[in-house]
Amino acid sequence: MPQGRAVLALLAGALSSLPAARAAADQDWPEYLGGPDRGHYSALRQINASNVGRLRTAWVYHTGLLGQMQCNPIVVKGVLYGATGTSEVFALDAATGKPIWRYNVPGRLNPEPQNDRGVTYWTDGRSERILCTIDSWLYALDARTGAPVKDFGADGRASLKAGLGPQAQEKWVISTTPGTLYGDLIAMPTRVGEDQDAAPGFIQAFNVRTGTLAWTFVTIPYPDTPGYETWSKAAYKNTDVGSANCWAGMAIDRRRGILYVPTGSAAPDFWGGQRLGKDLFADSLLALDASTGRLLWCQQTVHHDIWDRDLPSPPVLVTLRHGGRAVDAVAQTTKTGFIFVFDRVTGESLFPIQEKPFPKSTLGGEEAWPTQPIPSLPKPYARQTLTEADISPYAENREALLAQLRSARTGLFQPFGKFPTILFPGFDGGGEWGGPAVDPDGILYVNTTNMAWVASMSDPARQADLALMSPGRRRYMQYCVSCHGPERRGLPAGGIPSLVDVGSRLRREEVLSLIGSGRKMMPGFTALPGEDRAAIVGYLFGDEPQPAAAAAPAAPEAPARIPYQFDGYNRWVDSKGYPAISPPWGTLSAIDLNTGEYVWTATLGEFRELSARGIPPTGAENYGGPVATAGNLLFIAATKDGMIRAFDKRTGRVLWKSELPAAAFATPSTYEVNGKQYVVVACGGTKLGTAPGDSYVAFALP
Ligand code: HEC
Repeated sequence: MPQGRAVLALLAGALSSLPAARAAADQDWPEYLGGPDRGHYSALRQINASNVGRLRTAWVYHTGLLGQMQCNPIVVKGVLYGATGTSEVFALDAATGKPIWRYNVPGRLNPEPQNDRGVTYWTDGRSERILCTIDSWLYALDARTGAPVKDFGADGRASLKAGLGPQAQEKWVISTTPGTLYGDLIAMPTRVGEDQDAAPGFIQAFNVRTGTLAWTFVTIPYPDTPGYETWSKAAYKNTDVGSANCWAGMAIDRRRGILYVPTGSAAPDFWGGQRLGKDLFADSLLALDASTGRLLWCQQTVHHDIWDRDLPSPPVLVTLRHGGRAVDAVAQTTKTGFIFVFDRVTGESLFPIQEKPFPKSTLGGEEAWPTQPIPSLPKPYARQTLTEADISPYAENREALLAQLRSARTGLFQPFGKFPTILFPGFDGGGEWGGPAVDPDGILYVNTTNMAWVASMSDPARQADLALMSPGRRRYMQYCVSCHGPERRGLPAGGIPSLVDVGSRLRREEVLSLIGSGRKMMPGFTALPGEDRAAIVGYLFGDEPQPAAAAAPAAPEAPARIPYQFDGYNRWVDSKGYPAISPPWGTLSAIDLNTGEYVWTATLGEFRELSARGIPPTGAENYGGPVATAGNLLFIAATKDGMIRAFDKRTGRVLWKSELPAAAFATPSTYEVNGKQYVVVACGGTKLGTAPGDSYVAFALP
């Protein structure tokens, strides 16, 4: 970056108010994932490798609301700030778990779980604010009382759609990950739809004092701006193409004033015919000037993504020894298992990246990008290849799985077609939103899932059948089938409920409202007109008027905008529901980013009933990340087996484990109050079919 601007950025960084007093920073967990570098690291060492075996439960806080929590709570000056599964925000005494305040929007219509990952604390030394998101709003609450700050936005809240353009105003926009502070600005991630009705995922920064929009970075560029040429001409209009959002959260180098923003794929996820080209700035790590939103550099990690390979977590900032000098670096983990490591200032990769060729798409109108960027080092931390030798030795239907593998296409960046493709790593990685930890020595600790998924696109001929269907079934086939399936049976083992007898469980109004609000992994369909929603509900409740049999087939009301349909998310499992591939199904790795070499890899998670049969721990699917400490420890929950574990971060050996009241698909936090170190984790369960919970559990030495 030019000298003058570097100096300005430096100045701005120095002037910006820090989120917590510097002296307290080592005891606090003042920001999401521990700090602006999102390093999941604490310099605390009271709990260490020699005494971790004596950890006990210190306190438990029950939110009273069951269900998945992905929250990584923050702790500032002895107060813990977190969120329930339904975005109620609370403050606790971090030493005792005693509630201080709790905020819920009065009369909130759709308190559906939105998987909040946390909140942001801001102070200018006088006032203290908690910035949090509820539905499509950014709220500012008084950190001492939990009351909305009336002079922020309109009555304490600002719309997350402020900078997204007129097309987006009726669309579904929420935010599940805390914003990133730079002085009086907060840069916000958003979660938007995944289909043709997705809002655009522009990056927005708001003024923390006033709630006004400060800047927007347009991720689907307008005509005559850089990147426009990497899309179909009309993509920017947001009629058929959207998303390219950052949902995972960001990291910031406050000294330099550089914001690091990982983006996800453009929508529709699996059909890119209306967005031909590389699709910049989707699937990219962006370095933005934090005060203006101006692009400093960009590295795209997947060109023309047609697999939903969103960058899943904030990058981590770390200083490395590279080529004989210290380099301030930014490292980004991915769903595919690659790690990209860049010079934080120039954006140059520390290890060579090669553009390697990949297969063409077989679908008419689709053009997969011919190459993809593959880093030479570090080697991928997730398995990426499947051969017959990779079928699970424990599967009872081995022959059937072999036949399935032989008839499917596999391989990295294999475009989906009208045939089964086995995607590996699967849709949820590889790496997920838990992200990695990194310590000051430049060792990165990252957990991964090894799970293959089966995907395909349906024949365009089926589009003609749509015209013959009742309006409700037709809408269902357009908007709901990808998850709930053509027979409405869902994928209960994967957390997608069957809708076959939904009328016996839910009231009509409940389903109507759910379609609009979404819930957890289900997006809300706010752009879907009321009559379409009503038609779908009629179809689901079995009382939709049928089209008259004799009537001529009605022409489709609107020409199909997507000629191919995604057939749904299906894990590739054996007849007992275990992964069809051989273990390990979950691992945790330590990788030296200075050299790109592995230090160790350990198995993460187990199935007790398999272990009871004498099978060595297989590892398990996992969501939520690790925390590294100066006490040589690595804390991680994340697994379906409902355990929290402490690993020796030098060797990968498990030193301690404890069963949680419910599985914790969240990243722990660690902090010190009154001379005592705590480790806390949110245990909400309800992913991967686990039982629900409602507790935050804190551990400490006796
Ligand atoms: C991206 C995947 C996805 C899509 C698309 C989707 N759903 Fe869902 N749906 C889910 C998931 C996951 C859940 C379970 C949420 C939870 O765990 O609370 C769910 C839950 C539901 C439920 C509640 C069922 C119960 O028994 O509690 C209903 C009703 C429902 N969906 C209807 C629909 C309709 C109607 C559509 C289309 C307009 C749709 N869904 C589209 C994933 C999806």
